[in-house]
Amino acid sequence: MKEQRCFVKENKKINENYFLMKIKSEYISKNSKPGNFVMVNVSETFDPLLKRPFGIFKSEPPFIWLYFEVVGKGTKLLSNFKKNDKISILGPLGNSLPEFKNKKILMIAGGRGIVPIFYSIHTYSQHNDIFLVYGAKSEKDLNLYEEIKSKKLKKLFLYTDNGSVGKKGLVTSDVKNIINNNKVDITISCGPEPMFKTLVKKIEHIGTENYISMEALMGCGFGICHSCAKKTKNNNYKQVCTDGPIFKMEDIKW
Ligand SMILES: Cc1cc2nc3c(=O)[nH]c(=O)nc-3n(C[C@H](O)[C@H](O)[C@H](O)COP(=O)(O)OP(=O)(O)OC[C@H]3O[C@@H](n4cnc5c(N)ncnc54)[C@H](O)[C@@H]3O)c2cc1C
Ligand code: FES
Repeated sequence: MKEQRCFVKENKKINENYFLMKIKSEYISKNSKPGNFVMVNVSETFDPLLKRPFGIFKSEPPFIWLYFEVVGKGTKLLSNFKKNDKISILGPLGNSLPEFKNKKILMIAGGRGIVPIFYSIHTYSQHNDIFLVYGAKSEKDLNLYEEIKSKKLKKLFLYTDNGSVGKKGLVTSDVKNIINNNKVDITISCGPEPMFKTLVKKIEHIGTENYISMEALMGCGFGICHSCAKKTKNNNYKQVCTDGPIFKMEDIKW
């Protein structure tokens, strides 16, 4: 982990709420693995004081890409960054997914949960069969088609809550059937907490090895402030920033 002053190479507006930011960082791009995240200083002033956590969407040295949704003050400030602006980033942070070979992997992405999933597809698609289920509230939340379609996927299943793209329904709707029909060995998922809660009920006992990438409110990003603690099944606490963000689904208390 290293704090770096980097240059923004592009901050592309995908639509009113979503941005894809390309940043030059030799160190982070060379040292990152699927699942890792960075803490970004969204302002040159002390307001807001705390850096904000973002997953790494793509890493091609010397560049990394962040895909973010504008939800509050920090992400609004981040959306204002322009080409050649300097930006301070700490990373890569957190744990990462293990290596997989010759497996059938189902990736499940809800909304901006596509970030670590996209990085994982890029990493694992050469030696594994990848199935992707990608869902969001509506068309404007289901972005980056071109990037996703450029990846080697066995099958792609799209869902929106309102049916504006893909099948109408939740991203979790058909997961059990997809796993059974395609003899899936491993699932990797990222999305909002309600998505995980539904997923656990559906697939916990189905026989797959299940990995999740979790979000939490984060103060520091490297194990000092304890703001990111999550309860585990055996009533201990794990820190999402250092023990995660990747966890085995069954280790968390839902
Ligand atoms: C490991 C990790 C990876 C993440 N990766 C991405 C990513 O790739 N793209 C992306 O758009 N966002 C990602 N997030 C979430 C992102 O960090 C928050 O949306 C951001 O910090 C909000 O900052 P803000 O100042 O704009 O919002 P604030 O003004 O701080 O908050 C606005 C609203 O967002 C909620 N919120 C803030 N932080 C989080 C959080 N961490 N989880 C859930 N809700 C939150 C607040 O409760 C509030 O309702 C990630 C979070 C973590 C912990
Ligand atoms: S964010 Fe500070 S301990 Fe995890």
